[in-house]
Amino acid sequence: MTKYLIDTHAHLDMRINNAGEDETQNSNEQVKEIIAEMEQYGVKKVIIPSVEVKYLNRISEIALKYDNVYSMVGIFPTEAKTYNDEVEEKLLETVKNNSKTVAVGEIGLDYYWDKEFNDVQKNVFIRQIKLANKLNLPIVVHDREAHKDSFDILNEYNINSKVLFHCFSGSVEFMRECVKKGWFIAIGGVVTFKNAIKMKEVAKEVPLDKLVLETDSPYLTPVPYRGKPNKPAYVKFVAEEIAKIRNISFDEIAEITSKNAEKFFNI
Ligand code: NI
Repeated sequence: MTKYLIDTHAHLDMRINNAGEDETQNSNEQVKEIIAEMEQYGVKKVIIPSVEVKYLNRISEIALKYDNVYSMVGIFPTEAKTYNDEVEEKLLETVKNNSKTVAVGEIGLDYYWDKEFNDVQKNVFIRQIKLANKLNLPIVVHDREAHKDSFDILNEYNINSKVLFHCFSGSVEFMRECVKKGWFIAIGGVVTFKNAIKMKEVAKEVPLDKLVLETDSPYLTPVPYRGKPNKPAYVKFVAEEIAKIRNISFDEIAEITSKNAEKFFNI
């Protein structure tokens, strides 16, 4: 059986420069190149998360154009202040018009970039959890320095949606609490960083049936390309690192994480 990888989280619409700055949008030609390269690296499918309402149409456009590209709807925590009934209507409309929508995300809490609006973030997180429940779609969580609140809110409000922690950044203990709830853990490029001790520990201990891979490209580029813009192709380096940490084969990691992603997102 041929082994392939799935990048469960790539901002295919976004572009940054080598300094990690100057966020712009990828052109159609640039998206095409990124997807072609990804396929050469054995990455078969990719999912684009949603961050702001103004990018929803562009993300749908890309997902609908390529068989192996899927997308999410949702408003990023630091954009929580922009959330209102009209935005929610737009999210619903996007799901209706884009058959490639596979999750509500990335939603959650970010106390690193935005400390002032914690309560707004919490309310908007709850609203979007309810939206995901209503649509019967999985939830992709962005949790940065907000582990306890993220856990408590999901625990209290989520009824029927599957849950995935994107770019997991908690401890082994927190990972175990999440796994106990049946939630999934996504690991990205940070695991390849030499000093990412906690992340490597999580990669070693997470039950394989709860693990998926991601890049969060164009951000968080893995070694050996750290410092350059990230691409879905580089999910290969994440898989290699986890295989090394767990002392199992690359093929095994590829097979189980791809199967998990396909089942989780129904793709
Ligand atoms: Ni992201």
